[in-house]
Amino acid sequence: MPFLKLLHFAALLCWCGALLYLPALIAAGTRRGEALFYRDHAHLTRMVFTHIATPAALLAIGSGTALLLRDSIYAPWLILKLTSVAGMVLCHALCGVLVLRIESHPSRSVSWVCALIGGLIALLISLTLWLVLAKPFA
Ligand code: HEM
Repeated sequence: MPFLKLLHFAALLCWCGALLYLPALIAAGTRRGEALFYRDHAHLTRMVFTHIATPAALLAIGSGTALLLRDSIYAPWLILKLTSVAGMVLCHALCGVLVLRIESHPSRSVSWVCALIGGLIALLISLTLWLVLAKPFA
């Protein structure tokens, strides 16, 4: 398998995995409990966001853009895929906002927002994969 595509796959596996995990991790960090739990949990949540999800997102987008430029693909399915990826980036940013929020207000529940974002992320990942594998309107 060509190196660039392998890099794209590896990065998007890490990004999608982290994006699916983050909303549950954020929601779990707002439950009432020991103060020590909050501190450690908030640290873990921030680590997953800054050390795994964000670098993987940058790598997935960078390698995808390199593939696009190398192969000069400008088909309608790719435009739709980029729109769906933009939605994923928006959800990523929202997770960042929620990470900051549970750090400043750990006792305020954000469970329903997390459930909504988690569902949206699962939908967008599925849509992106379908667009790139089925290549409709090609
Ligand atoms: C800005 C972000 C992205 C860009 C510019 C991009 C671009 C590309 C390009 C140009 C290809 C090559 C298509 C081909 O050779 O037919 C590709 C392959 C692929 N991309 Fe992305 N991509 C991005 C993000 C993503 C994301 C977030 C996912 C998954 C959720 C994804 C999943 C895939 C898959 C599964 C393939 C392999 C398709 C195949 O070999 O048939 N990409 N991407």
